[in-house]
Amino acid sequence: MKRMKCLISAGPTREWLDPVRFISNPSSGKMGYALAKAAASRDMDVHLVSGPTDILPLKGIKISYVETALEMNAEMNRSFEESELIIMAAAVCDHRPLIQRKQKQKKKDAVSSIELIENPDVLKGMGKRKSSSQVLVGFAAETENHLANAREKIFEKNLDWILVNDVSSKSSGFQSDFNKVTILSKSGDVFEFDLLEKDSLAMKILDIIEP
Ligand code: PMT
Repeated sequence: MKRMKCLISAGPTREWLDPVRFISNPSSGKMGYALAKAAASRDMDVHLVSGPTDILPLKGIKISYVETALEMNAEMNRSFEESELIIMAAAVCDHRPLIQRKQKQKKKDAVSSIELIENPDVLKGMGKRKSSSQVLVGFAAETENHLANAREKIFEKNLDWILVNDVSSKSSGFQSDFNKVTILSKSGDVFEFDLLEKDSLAMKILDIIEP
């Protein structure tokens, strides 16, 4: 029997200012890797696109390593069409420096502001090209108005499901081994979970979103 192809992103992106400095966020990759492990344990054919993390490669899972949002966008798009279940757990930086210096910026030449330009929205781009046989899942990392903001993202990015997490708490979201997620569907279903270890949460998420 043909195995379901699942494409998952994890971790942060790094947007370089010069060879020794970057803009990023605290994503550890744990949530995305937990989802990749859970999908592989269900015999899916998993391709994980990972930003920089300390997590060791997972056995039996194809991993592509990327650093920047532009690289994440290119790698996700390369595998998008052949994938049936796509989950965007990465914390992609919305912006990158307009100028990326080839040499280290000297302290004496320091500037007081950095000009930023917008990165592509990887998930929104995939939402525009999505076919009816593909299931597209995003995360919403929120600090306020969680459900309302997440509902907007479902429609703005043409998603089937969105997983909302509160990223203002130290005990869940970024870096923690635990997360607390509410799952919303485009048709209005709501599933709320307690605070759970990311590995067991990932299994419960797949129980709901697996096509
Ligand atoms: O990695 P961990 O430490 O385990 O932490 C997990 C997590 C908090 C990073 C994860 O659970 C999570 O919330 N990931 C999404 C973070 C995020 O970027 O959320 P957002 O609300 O800013 O973006 C909404 C969606 O659009 C996300 O699926 C995001 O991947 C995607 N996006 C955002 C910006 C962009 N330029 N391209 C995108 O594809």
